[in-house]
Amino acid sequence: MSRDPQHSRALELLEILHREESPAPGAPVRRETSRVRIPKQGALPQSAAWLERLYHGELVPRERKPQVIDTRRSCGPYMVSVDEPPMVLLDACSQIATLNEGFANPGILQGLHEGRFDRCLWANPDNTIAAVPELDEYAAFLLGQAPAGLAHASFVCAGGAEANEKALRLARLHGPDPARRRVLAFDGSFHGRTLVTLGATSNPAKRKGVDMPGFEAVFCPRDLSALEATLRERGDELYAVIVEPMMAEGGDIHLTREFLLGVRELSRAHGLPLIVDEVQTGFGTSGSFFWWTKLGLGDSPETAPDLLTCAKKAGLGVVLSRWADEEPAPVNVASALRGLIQAETAHLQAALEAPIRERLHLLVAEFPGLVSEPRVAGTAFAFDLPSARERDAFINQRFARGFMTYHAGEQTIRFRLGACWELAHLDDLFARVSTALRRLDDPTAQTCAREGAPHRRTRWFEIREISEDDWAEVMALEQRAYEPERSDSEEFLRETAAAGVALVARDVETGELLGFVFAAPLEHYPDVSGPDGDRFRGVGHTLYAADLTVSDQARGNGVGRALKTEQIRWARANGYTFVSGRNRVGLTTSMAGLARSLGAYTAKVLDNQYGGDAQAEYYRIPLRSPAPLEQQGPHGHDLASGVQAPFGPRPAFMATRELVGPTASRLNLSNWATPDSIQFIEHLRAILPRGTGHLYTTSSRDELLDKSLRCIKMTRPAATIAVGFEGGYLGHTTASARSLSDPAGFGPGFAMFDWPLLPHPADVGAEACVAALAALIEAHGADAVIGLFVEVVGERSGKVLSSAAALALSKLCSAHGIPLAVVETASGGYRSGAGAWGLDGLDPSFCPNLVLWYPGGQLGQIFIDSRWWVGTPLMLISTWDGDELSQIRTHEHLRAAHRLELGPAINALDDLVREAATAAGDGARVGGQGLYRTLSLAGAEQAETVQARCRAKGLLLARGLPDTLCFVPALDIAPAALRGPVRTILLDAIGAGSGLDLGARERHEYA
Ligand SMILES: Cc1ncc(COP(=O)(O)O)c(C=O)c1O
Repeated sequence: MSRDPQHSRALELLEILHREESPAPGAPVRRETSRVRIPKQGALPQSAAWLERLYHGELVPRERKPQVIDTRRSCGPYMVSVDEPPMVLLDACSQIATLNEGFANPGILQGLHEGRFDRCLWANPDNTIAAVPELDEYAAFLLGQAPAGLAHASFVCAGGAEANEKALRLARLHGPDPARRRVLAFDGSFHGRTLVTLGATSNPAKRKGVDMPGFEAVFCPRDLSALEATLRERGDELYAVIVEPMMAEGGDIHLTREFLLGVRELSRAHGLPLIVDEVQTGFGTSGSFFWWTKLGLGDSPETAPDLLTCAKKAGLGVVLSRWADEEPAPVNVASALRGLIQAETAHLQAALEAPIRERLHLLVAEFPGLVSEPRVAGTAFAFDLPSARERDAFINQRFARGFMTYHAGEQTIRFRLGACWELAHLDDLFARVSTALRRLDDPTAQTCAREGAPHRRTRWFEIREISEDDWAEVMALEQRAYEPERSDSEEFLRETAAAGVALVARDVETGELLGFVFAAPLEHYPDVSGPDGDRFRGVGHTLYAADLTVSDQARGNGVGRALKTEQIRWARANGYTFVSGRNRVGLTTSMAGLARSLGAYTAKVLDNQYGGDAQAEYYRIPLRSPAPLEQQGPHGHDLASGVQAPFGPRPAFMATRELVGPTASRLNLSNWATPDSIQFIEHLRAILPRGTGHLYTTSSRDELLDKSLRCIKMTRPAATIAVGFEGGYLGHTTASARSLSDPAGFGPGFAMFDWPLLPHPADVGAEACVAALAALIEAHGADAVIGLFVEVVGERSGKVLSSAAALALSKLCSAHGIPLAVVETASGGYRSGAGAWGLDGLDPSFCPNLVLWYPGGQLGQIFIDSRWWVGTPLMLISTWDGDELSQIRTHEHLRAAHRLELGPAINALDDLVREAATAAGDGARVGGQGLYRTLSLAGAEQAETVQARCRAKGLLLARGLPDTLCFVPALDIAPAALRGPVRTILLDAIGAGSGLDLGARERHEYA
């Protein structure tokens, strides 16, 4: 709905380009699983071209690694670049310890193809509006693993820093005295990069410029007598103690059981809640689900912490606690489900500890005096080098040596593997590490030499459908290849060939039979274990691969792969959705590897097979991406979830996207780029809010504010006061967001920092508001002010920023060099009706310095002008920096919204809220703009009653400030629905008297 045809045309052309570059949803999977590959001289031409597009004009900091990653080809420990030939690296830190089964996690693939993601893949359900079963299931799983007494699980959007913020909030609420503002943390600690968690991070260099009056950490040496003394002297000032059982960023320091038990006992003796930060160590990393429990702690309430936090492998932030969280926030449900799936197989990591230990000790023995302090638990291991010089000489070689890892602290090199690592992968990694250690002083060690180039030779065999002449040789090979209980009869194979397809491979010169492959529809095998219990039996879309046999002489020559590929091609051409098959566990690893490289996942492990106690893997190779299901049944009317799902739960246009790669192979966007993420950023470049020229990405709404404040403080280190507005909302998980949001409706002690909230110009007029800001500047000095944060449309209040107020505030801010940030969550993404941004509807001379936008999911965008931009790499990052799946959805939302004509729906919503306000009578006020409208009623009770009555009739409304209802429909809502059933329900709810049992609220779930 852009008003400028030229701009619309530019967006259309960009979309055409992007669609041409994107994989079609049905494109064959080509996973690279078998080895490290390094192109000649490390040349990455496609990656370089993509990165040039990303960095063009310094839009984002140059902080991504040189390989642009193909999530659809990456598999297990192998991370594959988009190049031809690709660079294939062993990811020995598992995406900063976020993956426990490597890339293309089989459980996630299975979930995607068997319907587990159907409620959260295409759009993000708003868990603050309706119950989300995936989150309930996740909470139940985690509580089953939790240390004694931790009876509540809550989820936060971004990751570890937010989880710790939430834990600190709960500790403060329930600790000795909610007025206290200090916590105890340990030397070497790292707890995240939001203001408060960074404040509790011991490295002064990392904390520089972000220390903020109102919160303080007291750092204590890792020593019980020092702790005892600190608590004796300062225990009365503290409200919590926070500790990592293994200090990862501090240098993989394994704290002892005795020390941690002492921390538990001393904190309890001083009445202080103990937070155990397992962001990096939880989810089976140590071999036990939690590091704390690995140490034999936590099986009784006496040795359990009061709060425990997770993130990374959890997919989002998790807080387990003795106390319930009364302030839930929206999260990206698909990330939670990925976390749950990782949790379900977390135990598989334990098996790696012994083989890693063995190899690590051999490494130490090989390099005496160079490699020291080997340490391992589960899939995490580390060693020390003598100094930062050797450390850097090692790290700088990593790509040339074919692996990825990080250092920590001055001397430590650390590794994080996953359950997908087989012994051969371990041997390969340790050989590479050993080479790197031998070449620390070699000036050429960083130069990439070609490795693992595929052999190119002309096909020496042909594949064709079976003919009668082939049968005798086929049966002879079958009987040679298998022991009697595994070999198939001729009758069985003939029936298969008749019902499906049989292909043979023969040497083109000698005519020798090299192998064959048989398959028929699943339904053809009622008595075969695997097909007999397949959930898709009867659907008619699965081809069962009954037999794949390659002669001894032909093995290792690509014959098996060629036969399987040909079979898949046949299945695809004949309309099948899946190819399934069986492999004997243990005996046929090459076959299992082949299937996996073609995108297979294990659908089931079958026991008692082959006439004994052997196991078989029943695998499934999907031939198509999952597609959005048709809408099922009546949905009611959701006028609440528009921020999370701007086009409802299953937008049809999402079918054009291949989502399996980005969902099953999640990357740290802080470190790596993908074509999808770059295309999204290019789209943002085309619609940058006016005045801005750069952007940062975050993983949540709250992180938008934290990152903006830290960014500004890099140029204004002395500033300590951020300024917001009454009724405003910037999030409620991190301390900074709570301190800038109106506390109405939240629990006690909501703000952490004493930051002022100005009266809103919509209430007092621009002049009075500006006068209040001027008085504040006068009182504290302009240099004390970090920035002014104002919503274009108040998400909880509906208060709208007028052009007059915007210009007046901006004038005063720029006169004093104070940055002005506008928040577009309720107005951006075309929702205001004025254009891509609400800003587009304000006076064209108004140019804010920053624009903050939370588009839903696990994503946030900060747009910023050149004056306040900090382009230094790796300064303003967190583990994820967003989520690729959320980016893809947002990209599609922006494309679809741009095409929409919103006027009729905006008018219908305007008529609705106005009519409702009239019906509600005295004191009712309408607010908001475009397709984000509010109705403030006489009080909280009335708002609650109307909301509950509407909900009972299937109309979901959101709640803003306690007295305010919010109307946030999908952008493509039919005006007729607003004028028809929605109107009837709403007016009934306002007009009807009492009589509704508010205790009997329905729980609406997405169908
Ligand atoms: C122990 C610990 N806590 C917290 C964090 C912060 O997590 P995130 O980057 O997800 O905010 C990290 C990140 O490395 C960590 O290692």
